[in-house]
Amino acid sequence: MKKATPPTTNKHLIRWVEKMAELCEPERIHWVDGSQKEYDRLCEELVAAGTFTRLNPKLWPGCFAARSTPNDVARVEDRTFICSLSKDNAGPTNNWEDPYVMRRRLKQLFRGSMRGRTMYVLPFSMGPVGSPMSQIGVQLTDSPYVVVNMRIMARIGKPVFAEIDKDVKRVVPCMHSVGAPLAAGQKDVPWPCNDTKYIVHFPETREIWSYGSGYGGNALLGKKCFALRIASNIARDEGWMAEHMLILGIESPAGEKTYLAAAFPSACGKTNLAMLIPPKGFKGWKVWTVGDDIAWIKPDESGRLRAINPESGFFGVAPGTSARTNPNAMATLARNTIFTNVAVTPEGGVWWEGMTDQPPAECTDWRGERWTPEIGTATGRPAAHPNGRFTAPASQCPSIDSDWENPEGVPISAIVFGGRRATTLPLVYQAFNWSSGVYIGATMGSETTAAATGAVGKVRRDPMAMLPFCGYHMGDYFRHWLKMQRNLTSTPRIFHVNWFRKDADGHFLWPGFSENMRVLKWIADRVRGRALSLESPIGWTPRFEDMHWEGLDFERARFEALQQVDRKQWKQEVISHEELFLDLHDHLPPEMVYERELLIHRL
Ligand code: GTP
Ligand code: SPV
Ligand code: MN
Repeated sequence: MKKATPPTTNKHLIRWVEKMAELCEPERIHWVDGSQKEYDRLCEELVAAGTFTRLNPKLWPGCFAARSTPNDVARVEDRTFICSLSKDNAGPTNNWEDPYVMRRRLKQLFRGSMRGRTMYVLPFSMGPVGSPMSQIGVQLTDSPYVVVNMRIMARIGKPVFAEIDKDVKRVVPCMHSVGAPLAAGQKDVPWPCNDTKYIVHFPETREIWSYGSGYGGNALLGKKCFALRIASNIARDEGWMAEHMLILGIESPAGEKTYLAAAFPSACGKTNLAMLIPPKGFKGWKVWTVGDDIAWIKPDESGRLRAINPESGFFGVAPGTSARTNPNAMATLARNTIFTNVAVTPEGGVWWEGMTDQPPAECTDWRGERWTPEIGTATGRPAAHPNGRFTAPASQCPSIDSDWENPEGVPISAIVFGGRRATTLPLVYQAFNWSSGVYIGATMGSETTAAATGAVGKVRRDPMAMLPFCGYHMGDYFRHWLKMQRNLTSTPRIFHVNWFRKDADGHFLWPGFSENMRVLKWIADRVRGRALSLESPIGWTPRFEDMHWEGLDFERARFEALQQVDRKQWKQEVISHEELFLDLHDHLPPEMVYERELLIHRL
């Protein structure tokens, strides 16, 4: 094996890299510097390997398209493990295995797993380099696709080695192998991976081991594995919060800015809301993007919550993204973007369902097969995978907030929960107080989506949109939420939204997308004590006249259907709250039981 001089003086790091190289037996080790030159060279190599198609530089400058194998297209929740010392610590919502047993299994899987490949040593900072709220990891990976995606999603390379050499922050070791060693002379495939997959977290030792997948949250370990599952453990110990939330700022015509963080489950509208452009009737209003997926939230010295976006890019759902629904996303992904599992047109462009009304006459679908609208209709196959995604630099977003890289974060005045619900849940309502708000988050339900493998469209409980991402017992997580308030001098107001309520014919009642600004405005006004509302059994709800309707012709009756709190449906809803609470009961904070009783009483 060829050896390069490590660009770090950190002895622990160097020794760990050596030890892991002995285990995985890569052909060579590459210490990632994070430079443009290195990125360009890796992209060249990915093109040569058939992983990347370079898109037409006249249409899509600096862009590439990748196709994964059909068995590696989304997060694998049933292969995701929290290996805490005690099973009780992982709780009933996580898969658990004894850490000693799991370590032995992983050692076997990783032994020789990088044969014939390069092991990249990829240092990354979640959060701006040097921010007191940032955390550092080092991912060892045999996937150059992961390296180039991580360069967009996180701060990587030289400046991070410099941080590590200061030796003040603990480094989270992240092992990743696609699990496809090459024998001497064996030809590689465009998307190496393994049918056996393990996404494993050791919360006590703060370690991640991911095997067999090269896709998204399974492989870009800074994202869900570190910034949510491991970080939720760090946050609990240190008194802050690691959440599956977008962060945005609403600016009024007078220049007053109100920041909020919003938790919606995967593929339920975070990226869209984070990049919203106000519709007609909102002259002078602006929405600014801080983050679209993850928020790290911490009380500052004055007792106010402040949030950073630990990422530096967007790994966004492509299907449904268009100049009409999300023009800011379209502008962001117009250059220097990596597309995965979308269709490629004969001109060297990309396409996905919903991007334009008219599909291209012909294209290569995400499986690499010829696709025409006729073939699509006959086979029922979409051109792009429903979880096809773009990896694009946040700095390219036209609505990026001037404070998005502020090391101290932005002040959070409201927290919004939301799910994809065809019935029962109104467009918007406000919790009576923090603890009833925590109950609303804890009992959130949403229809499952293509972002994870498994059935789509089934309502499941997804507390705070963290069901797949909380790295410890969900009951303790609720307790942590309740505890957070005690350190605050000003508590954010809590809301719940649902863009997805349907009428009897199955049509969305609410136009959504930019029109969601009307809901954001009511929220900002409530936070500042300016908007009125009605008390309902579930919380404060806006009346028709409390909403700003300029520029939209929306009938009062339709709004009332959207906002309706149907007591019969709500009794069913409370019964389904119980589903998850039964499983969590021995760790469930008593406040959750009181809140449930109060809700039943009000109903
Ligand atoms: P992850 O990246 O998986 O965490 O997803 P996300 O929460 O960022 O979801 P995203 O914004 O990418 O939206 C996912 C899907 O929801 C897309 O197909 C959107 O078109 C759709 N969507 C987003 N906002 C709205 C809305 O206001 N109304 C309706 N009807 N659909 C929406
Ligand atoms: C999600 O599933 O919530 C995502 C995509 O944001 S992934 O990075 O694959 O987790
Ligand atoms: Mn997400």
